[in-house]
Amino acid sequence: MADTLTITDNRTGKQYEVPIQDGTIKATDLRQIKVTSDEFGMMTYDPAFMNTAACKSRITFIDGDKGVLLYRGYPIEQLAEKSDFLEVAYLILFGELPTTKAHEDWARDVTLHTMLHTNLAKLMEGFRHDAHPMGMFISTVGALSTFYPDAKDIFSPESRRLQTVRLIAKVPSISAYAFRHSIGRPFNQPDNDLSYAGNFLSMLFRMTELKYTPNPVLERALDVLFILHADHEQNCSTSTMRAIGSSHADPYSALAGAAAALYGPLHGGANEAVLRMLHEIGSINNVPAFIKRVKAGEGRLMGFGHRVYKSYDPRAKIIKRMADLVFDVMGKNPLLEMALELERIALEDEYFVSRKLYPNVDFYSGLIYQAMGFPVDMFPVLFAIPRTAGWIAQWEEMLNDPDQKIARPRQIYLGHGPRDYVPRERRK
Ligand code: ACO
Repeated sequence: MADTLTITDNRTGKQYEVPIQDGTIKATDLRQIKVTSDEFGMMTYDPAFMNTAACKSRITFIDGDKGVLLYRGYPIEQLAEKSDFLEVAYLILFGELPTTKAHEDWARDVTLHTMLHTNLAKLMEGFRHDAHPMGMFISTVGALSTFYPDAKDIFSPESRRLQTVRLIAKVPSISAYAFRHSIGRPFNQPDNDLSYAGNFLSMLFRMTELKYTPNPVLERALDVLFILHADHEQNCSTSTMRAIGSSHADPYSALAGAAAALYGPLHGGANEAVLRMLHEIGSINNVPAFIKRVKAGEGRLMGFGHRVYKSYDPRAKIIKRMADLVFDVMGKNPLLEMALELERIALEDEYFVSRKLYPNVDFYSGLIYQAMGFPVDMFPVLFAIPRTAGWIAQWEEMLNDPDQKIARPRQIYLGHGPRDYVPRERRK
């Protein structure tokens, strides 16, 4: 017998059998529950989508209580140790790890699309000298839709594949241009002999040398950070990507919107907020007083807590280990000591323990980025580059899902009933 949920409506005494599938009921099955036939029917109220599955997905699995993160079934720990970002992007986008030939073809395709159109570079030059790189990233990705109008053909698999390659290839170039603009240095052209992360480092940091050789530890660290950030199922930015994509906008416009959602301090801006917080605290001696203020509700311990993880974020564990390797090359970040002390106290404190607040991916990532020479403004951009793979995969899945339609939540209207217009001179 199929699983069902029996609902009794006390207003009418009627009973309803609602099918249960995959541990969920369909919200639209509740619409049959009404007192009179002309009513709209029962809805659910779920601000911030705390308990609503908006899609079926086969991309990323998270068990927040156990601290498990899988991409297409593969544990994040194994991917971070054994794989590289381009391979992980392929896995997320196309569902399986690539064969040697598929990996070579994929890497070559991406490499051949890393250059930016000259006019796109001119557009970026038009930003103010102190423009935030994430603002530049969002605008420039949006502008890509005007360079590639063929992207509107969203129901063509060939067109989608081409835009996918373009996006994966060009987001590091756009990001590096944004960085170079913000420090007043000329743009560096991509170097196709280097790896994905190595080429990005070259576009960022190459000066007058003819050939830039990335430090292998930093190159690998950046690649692992990219792997850790490649997807994270239905978070704020991914839901935005799906919502914009559901109106059949082109992928560049949808991705610009997703990146804008990532820009907020509660999402992709959190690691920037962590560093600001550490600077504000100022010294390890001030940590207990800071924790006290957080517990009194006078601010949050940034980089702690997560909507889904109610245990140690598995990505934070990997990053914490990697931080040591980066600090060996670049020297210790003086803020690290303070971060470790904050973590130590918070993990022993009843306030944080009872609320299941643990370090998330952003708690240590900012320290690593800073040690690698990135200004804090670049942090959300460094997040957006790898997340592009996840956003596109989720967009593609949404477009191919026959259950999906244009995203359109309902509301509970609590405002005025109909009333007559009052001329301005008679208003009080
Ligand atoms: N510091 C102190 N208290 C916190 C924190 C924190 N970082 N996070 C949550 N809490 C407290 C809340 O005050 C609340 O306490 P209460 O029950 O006494 O009112 C309780 O924990 C639950 O918090 P919510 O805000 O309901 O949790 P939610 O799931 O909505 O928020 C979020 C998750 C936004 C990540 C939150 O933990 C937060 O603001 N963290 C700091 C910002 C941050 O690090 N964001 C990065 C997230 S990871 C990412 O986007 C890649």
